[in-house]
Amino acid sequence: MYKLAPSILSADFSKLGEEVEEIVNAGADYLHIDVMDGIFVPSISFGMPVMKSLRKRTDCFFDVHLMIEEPIRYMNEFKEAGADGITVHAESCKHLNRTVQAIKELGLKAAVALNPATSLSCLDYILEDLDMVLIMTVNPGFGGQKLIENTYEKVRKLREIIDGKGLKADIQVDGGITLQNVERMMDSGANIFVAGTSVFKGDKQKNVKAFKEVFANA
Ligand code: DX5
Ligand code: ZN
Repeated sequence: MYKLAPSILSADFSKLGEEVEEIVNAGADYLHIDVMDGIFVPSISFGMPVMKSLRKRTDCFFDVHLMIEEPIRYMNEFKEAGADGITVHAESCKHLNRTVQAIKELGLKAAVALNPATSLSCLDYILEDLDMVLIMTVNPGFGGQKLIENTYEKVRKLREIIDGKGLKADIQVDGGITLQNVERMMDSGANIFVAGTSVFKGDKQKNVKAFKEVFANA
């Protein structure tokens, strides 16, 4: 099952509620919510108050991508703010197993993200516990970057590992996903696609529908 997860980082924050309703009505499967702390990544985005406000406007799955140091400090708060799934970076957790267990104990879907230069071997002792792996296809911190070419191969290898072990974990890709490269990423084995610029630039509803059509025809 292919899913589209538009990243609200590329939305117009002055009318965020309306933009979110628009893309959800057009068929977005998840809302991808990028939280940045200015330490793990250079940029600062937004946090719980924004999520709480949005939670009142939609029932859509909140796919929360935490680009923050030691996210374990805030697990309860993100749940209270409306998270359905939480993704933490392997590079930002001193105790990755403990952090993943904390997410699961709250009844939320747990995912681990890997930066482009982080090896898949990081997942060796955690993969069985995960609902999803997020392969970063750009260096995290900003929307609108170009997808890094060697990430196709990384996704392909991860798909082999997941299928080989008979696991059900989803593979999400994030960064530089476009209507031009999404099929190649699908062929490589990813099944959840984050898209910021390529959803919010131009006609949002048309963009969402175009992605969904590619998925339906696969
Ligand atoms: C980058 C974020 C992405 C970003 C994607 O650090 O994690 O979710 O919003 O934006 P695009 O699709 O424009 O690369
Ligand atoms: Zn993201």
